[in-house]
Amino acid sequence: MQCWSAQAGYAPIPVAETRGCWIHTTDGRRIFDLRSAHECINLGFNHPHVLQAMREQMERVVYVTDDFATAPTAELVRRLARLAPGGPDKKVFLSQSGAAAVEAAIKAARMFQYNRVFGGTTRPEDLDAPRQYPFPYKIISRYRSWHGSTSGAASASGDPRRWFQEPFTVPGVVFAPDANPYRSFFGSGAEGLQAHLNYLEYLIEQEGGSNKVAAVLIEPVVGSNGIIPPPPGYLAGLRQICDDWNLLLIADETMTGLGRTGRMLAIDHEGIQPDIIVLGKALGAYCPVAATIFSERVSRSFDHNIFGHGQSFSGHALGCAAAVASLDVIEGEGFLERVQTDGEYLGSRLRALAQRHPCVGDVRGLGFFWTLELVKNRETREPLRRFTEKYTSTVVSRLSDFLLKERQVYVPSDKFGIWVVPPLVASRDELDFVVAAIDAALELADAELAPA
Ligand SMILES: Cc1ncc(COP(=O)(O)O)c(C=O)c1O
Repeated sequence: MQCWSAQAGYAPIPVAETRGCWIHTTDGRRIFDLRSAHECINLGFNHPHVLQAMREQMERVVYVTDDFATAPTAELVRRLARLAPGGPDKKVFLSQSGAAAVEAAIKAARMFQYNRVFGGTTRPEDLDAPRQYPFPYKIISRYRSWHGSTSGAASASGDPRRWFQEPFTVPGVVFAPDANPYRSFFGSGAEGLQAHLNYLEYLIEQEGGSNKVAAVLIEPVVGSNGIIPPPPGYLAGLRQICDDWNLLLIADETMTGLGRTGRMLAIDHEGIQPDIIVLGKALGAYCPVAATIFSERVSRSFDHNIFGHGQSFSGHALGCAAAVASLDVIEGEGFLERVQTDGEYLGSRLRALAQRHPCVGDVRGLGFFWTLELVKNRETREPLRRFTEKYTSTVVSRLSDFLLKERQVYVPSDKFGIWVVPPLVASRDELDFVVAAIDAALELADAELAPA
């Protein structure tokens, strides 16, 4: 079955092979993947260094349980502990999907708070002690957010896909407003930011503060819900509020991690230290590998309390070898610097498009993570569709059809506009090719959305 779709008419395009940024189809077409395979292939397809590491690892160990240690698994967690901010004594739980890594983060945040309130224990007989409320358990998430499709992760997601789960959402999630400079309820500039942060504090207090709230869960740059970098100062302000209220800050970097925004992690743009960081998607290059990285403070909580979580294939050696090889490339000399410079170039080309096309309301992003938000009316910023119309077709579906069929560019339709999320290895020529294709597509949107 195809994800999140009605199944009748599902007709996937047969693929012969993949190379760099391109998918070669069996009928001889060559299609640019402008969404980097759901943001999983930051290095493009078939990167030789990663494939070689996978071949070599396959001959040695593919998988053993976590009662054993393998070199690539040890090396991966060592590298992850180093690339995440804060001291080196972190711990990492490895899984296979962003959703699973988020589940681990949410459960651990609640267990951490339980341990904090009821105290750690070293007596084996106490390990079976019932974990009862009340202890801080609420997770504050935001409306425009997506953390995965498993029950817990979907329940902590504001995205309308959560509604498929209702009324059986996992309890204990409260939604905060979005940090969206283009559609802020709090005004712009320093004053708007302060009003927003004040409201967040109010919300936390009304939800019971340190006694009831366990953690705040954010995507440092919102992904699926419209690629929204927060206003400068927001992440630092949020960190401060979490410190003031003794809440854990969980940064879900499933989509934004590993160089996507021009830094290794999106939180690095503001230099904040979350208590838990979630990575997935591009982490394993071509293998499903995800990680939940716990700061030293959170890790210590589980020294003598059970980490009540786990799954098969955790720490999969082949996947970890691919992840380590992929980190070699991303951490290599000049790689992230090029994403930054070429990302700025891409951003300036996209902003120039917005000048010419009245259908574009906002151009936003950073690194190789951009979107053009299309609007019905530029002055009033009237959106293409409301949140309650997620599955209603708009001009964006027509644009993505045009781009695929006429321009050989694959960009799945999104509810707010066009995504520009190329593999981080895309060359300037390839970026120019993409911008020219979008330019042509926007003509269609201008015509369709022009006032009668
Ligand atoms: C920020 C974020 N978290 C979690 C997930 C879930 O990842 P997965 O699809 O690997 O479960 C996604 C997927 O889009 C995501 O964007």
